[in-house]
This record gives sequence, structure tokens and C-alpha cells, in this order.
Amino acid sequence: MDYFNRRQQHLFAEECAVEELAKTYGTPLYVYSRATIERHWHAFDQAAGEQPHLVCYAVKANSNLAVLNVMARLGSGFDIVSQGELARVLKAGGDAKKVVFSGVGKKASEIAFALEQGIYCFNVESEAELDRIQAVAESMDKTAPVSLRVNPDVDAGTHPYISTGLKENKFGINIDDAVRIYQKASTMPNLAIKGVDCHIGSQLTEIRPFLDALDRVLILVDNLAEQGIVLSHIDVGGGLGVCYDKEQPPHPKEYAKAIAEKLDGRNITLVYEPGRAIMANAGILVTEVEFLKTNEGRNFAIVDAAMNDLIRPSLYQAWQNIIPVSLREDTASAYYDVVGPVCETGDFLGKDRELAIKAGDLLAVRSSGAYGFTMSSNYNSRPRAAEVMVDGDKSVLVRARETIESLWQGENLLP
Ligand code: LLP
Repeated sequence: MDYFNRRQQHLFAEECAVEELAKTYGTPLYVYSRATIERHWHAFDQAAGEQPHLVCYAVKANSNLAVLNVMARLGSGFDIVSQGELARVLKAGGDAKKVVFSGVGKKASEIAFALEQGIYCFNVESEAELDRIQAVAESMDKTAPVSLRVNPDVDAGTHPYISTGLKENKFGINIDDAVRIYQKASTMPNLAIKGVDCHIGSQLTEIRPFLDALDRVLILVDNLAEQGIVLSHIDVGGGLGVCYDKEQPPHPKEYAKAIAEKLDGRNITLVYEPGRAIMANAGILVTEVEFLKTNEGRNFAIVDAAMNDLIRPSLYQAWQNIIPVSLREDTASAYYDVVGPVCETGDFLGKDRELAIKAGDLLAVRSSGAYGFTMSSNYNSRPRAAEVMVDGDKSVLVRARETIESLWQGENLLP
């Protein structure tokens, strides 16, 4: 559930009229709702009940400092995949002791930075990475907390680009090799084995694959315990899907509860890494219709947001709902391809959408709070959009629209 609702003809973000926000801040504009973020975060946190747990929000979904700060204030942990993400978390007031560091290609300098800050755990994705963490920790005379990210070979049943739990993916360590690598880790002097980690993919709409993966991980946990390697946490990754269209993913409460129940009676902390489930429906992208045109019987609504602002439709053929910010009754509806100004045929936000619109109207692309702004670019030398967070009847510009001059920041002419 989110706090983007219509009042009569007009779309509101909490108590703020979206039309007013667009007037004040311009378009394209990302609008986030603080109350929605908090509601979703609490759903995960509360569903785990008595089971000791830590919600580590996946920063890649939306790394705006204000978003991170809202979660830091709730006491959230964070899942990061780069030094930049860790630096953002710290800048936003997050606690390094609640940070897990995922990702297949951690550089020695990034490992050193994370060790310096005292993070909760490294999610190690290969044997070579384990060796690197040991070497860096040794050189700093520190002990690095580690988990192995195991690959349970479970089909997440999601888009191939965002499915990560199959053997052939680049992620994690084959679960069959895990015992041997844990044994090796246990002999490495500058490592402290903390847990096990597993993330099987994103936008999953059923609980079953999560539970199947967890079953395999629990067999490993028991196997390790028999050999004297006792883990203090299980990180189940992120990946819970949201409703973009007609999907009916389990509610975060239902998901978190089902997982926590599997661990009942075990003295082990549960770590979640949700990204999309917290942020997607906590944000919209507001864009203005520049022109309506018809080519060979196909209607186009050309808007001022493009694939550089929101790449999910172009990249994954992802479907996101597109609605008028204000409903009008003085024009008939028609089917439009909603496209941006970028010079690519693949530049679209939605196809065949029934809309009653005129040039100058505002549209809202729903479910844009996750993997929206964070995947944006300056392609076609387009300054990136502004971001606003609403909190009740107040709105705060949490990232200014980029200026034209900022486009060439750091570039140099030849002497
Ligand atoms: N943990 C790890 C290790 C991950 O790789 C990811 C996402 C998450 C947690 C968070 O997953 P979530 O709860 O958000 O599903 N750009 C794509 C999604 C890529 C997901 C990458 N990893 C999209 O727009 O659909």
C-alpha cells in the first residue's frame, strides 16, 4: 500500500498535489513518499517478530541521501555493493555496524574502506575474493567478518536479467563447494566467519523459491555446525516482487513471516536485503506531454522524460502504469505509445496505453521509486531529473535538477 491517491480529479502524494509539485520543481520529476517508505520498511521489520533480525535495505534500488536518511532514522541496516554506496550510507547517517557488503567484484581499496568503517559483514562471492579479503585485513591488522554467498541453484522464475540463483549465473559460490571453502576460511587468521548469504533474484512473485533456497541453505548450516563451524546469521537476500501490473506478490509481512518461521527455534539472526519491495511503490516519475502525434495510424505521446530517466521499460520491457496526474473529461481517450525525446526507437516508457490527454498534461509513471533514478544517465546530454520527497503536506527538494554546465564537469579540452 502506498500514499499516492487520487482526490477527485487530482493525484496526490500524501497531502501534496502532484500538479503543484510539478509547478514548483519542474519536470521530469521523481516524487517519493516518506510515509510509504516507512510503512514498507516496518512491514519487514515487524513480520520477523521475535526472531532476531536486521533489515538491510538494498541501496542500489534508490540511493538518494534523503531516502537513506529516512531508513537510518528507523534504525535500518543497509546492503551495499560499492564504496560509493557505503559512503552514501555514512553521509546519510547510517550505521556501518549494520552494513553488509555484497557484489562479485570488490576492489582491494573498497574492502579496505569497509574494514576501516567496521561493517557488519562481507558477503563473499568467490574463493579469490576470500583470499583478497584475508590479505587486505592482514595488511591492516584487522579481522574481517565474512559470510559466503552461496548459489543454491533455484529457479527464481523471474526475468533472466534479474535472476541470480541459478548455477550458470556469475553470482555466489556453488553450494556444493561451500563446505570446503568454509573450512578454508576457518583457517584464515584474519577472517571471522559470521554467516551465510543467498540472493536468488529480483521481482519474485511467489514465496516458494525463497523457501526452497532457504531449505538448501539450512542443510548447509547444519552440515557446517557438525564440523564445528557455527554461524550467527542467515542473510536471505532481497528479491520480493511488487505489483506493477497484475502481479500478486506475497505481502512483505507474509514473506518475512514465512521465512522467520523456518528459523524458529534456531539461535540465529535473520538478515533481509529488500530494495524494490520498500522503494518501488514509494515513488512516481512525473513527466509533461510535449506533443501528441500520429504516424501511420500509431499514436505517440511524446513526453519530457525518457529512457535516460527511467530505463526499465527499454531494458527489461518492464511494464509500469502510466496515469494522468489530473483526469480530464473534455477529450476522448486513445491508445498511445508514451515515448521520450531520446534518439532511439527503444526509448519508451509504455506502449499502447489508453489515455485521455492533451499536450501540456502531466503523466505519472507509477512504481518508479526503485531502479528509477539510480539507473538514470545523461544519454543525449540530458541533465538528470530532480527528486523530491513529500512528508505529509511538506515537500523537500532532495536532489536538484542537474544543470547544463554540470554535464561536462570533469571534462577537459586538449591543451
Ligand atoms: N541483494 C542483492 C545481493 C542484490 O543483488 C539485490 C538486487 C538485492 C539485494 C535487492 O533486490 P530487490 O529486493 O530490489 O529485488 N534493475 C533491476 C533489478 C536488479 C536487482 C539487482 N539486485 C530492475 O529494475 O528490475
